[in-house]
Amino acid sequence: MTFPDVVHVDDPADDRLADFNRLTDVVLRSRHEPAKGLYIAESSTVIRRAVAAGHRPRSFLMAPKWLDSMADVIPPGVPVYVAEEPVLKEITGFHLHRGALAAMHRPPLREVSELLEGARRVVVLEDIVDHTNVGAAMRACAALGVDVVLFTPSCADPLYRRAVRVSMGTVFQVPWTRIDPWPAGIDTLRAQGFTVAALALEDDSVSLDDLVADPPGKLALVLGTEGDGLKASTVAGCDLTVRIPMSGGVDSLNVASAVAVAAWATRVPGGEA
Ligand SMILES: C[S@@+](CC[C@H](N)C(=O)[O-])C[C@H]1O[C@@H](n2cnc3c(N)ncnc32)[C@H](O)[C@@H]1O
Repeated sequence: MTFPDVVHVDDPADDRLADFNRLTDVVLRSRHEPAKGLYIAESSTVIRRAVAAGHRPRSFLMAPKWLDSMADVIPPGVPVYVAEEPVLKEITGFHLHRGALAAMHRPPLREVSELLEGARRVVVLEDIVDHTNVGAAMRACAALGVDVVLFTPSCADPLYRRAVRVSMGTVFQVPWTRIDPWPAGIDTLRAQGFTVAALALEDDSVSLDDLVADPPGKLALVLGTEGDGLKASTVAGCDLTVRIPMSGGVDSLNVASAVAVAAWATRVPGGEA
């Protein structure tokens, strides 16, 4: 098979490879991918899911042996940079054992009100720092019937390479956007008929069991950051505070685990396969 847009590269410093240059976590965290309007999709599966979701690749980078298997997802006119393994490692800063990378155009963020139309279960993630937690939370939301995920302005990027990977590509499946401003956005949720529940370990928190016993038709679950939990102003702005009962002397769950427990317990029956 021949590919008209394939460019063989052997110089890791080639300017055309800027999108893929040194993709280690530390570098990427400081690179502000959102501002550059791109994100990196890693592995054939993730690239395929991104393309299937309507995202547009702007260039590819891979070892020659992956060209044939990736041919059907490479649109005409999009450059494909091909290099041997040692050169790839020099370019990206890590061993590219998942096959291929694609620099993808970042899709524009959607309006909160547009996403909330018809939704019954929403998860809001406030200021999560760890991209692994963002990815794991997205995966749980996809699996457990959450209709929409909203990220506060300071929450870690769901299209960051690690978040996408840990989510198993579900960041391309569950509709999501940023909710900004926050916590003022609680009013937007309420105006669209949602009961807004803060997941927090407060003295006056009701048990998740009580919420499940009489669930609201439209429910937004709001979860907080890894260290400090939800901001006091967020808890104060929500309609109620809900606690997942803990045992074994453990005071709290990891935030992605808490998302999974709360989403499963409050799911709308009938959505399972
Ligand atoms: C690791 S916890 C933060 C713990 C923090 N020290 C606190 O008191 O909230 C991260 C988030 O997960 C959710 N969470 C974890 N365990 C929970 C529980 N047992 N009940 C309700 N929410 C919980 C909360 O939304 C929390 O903000």
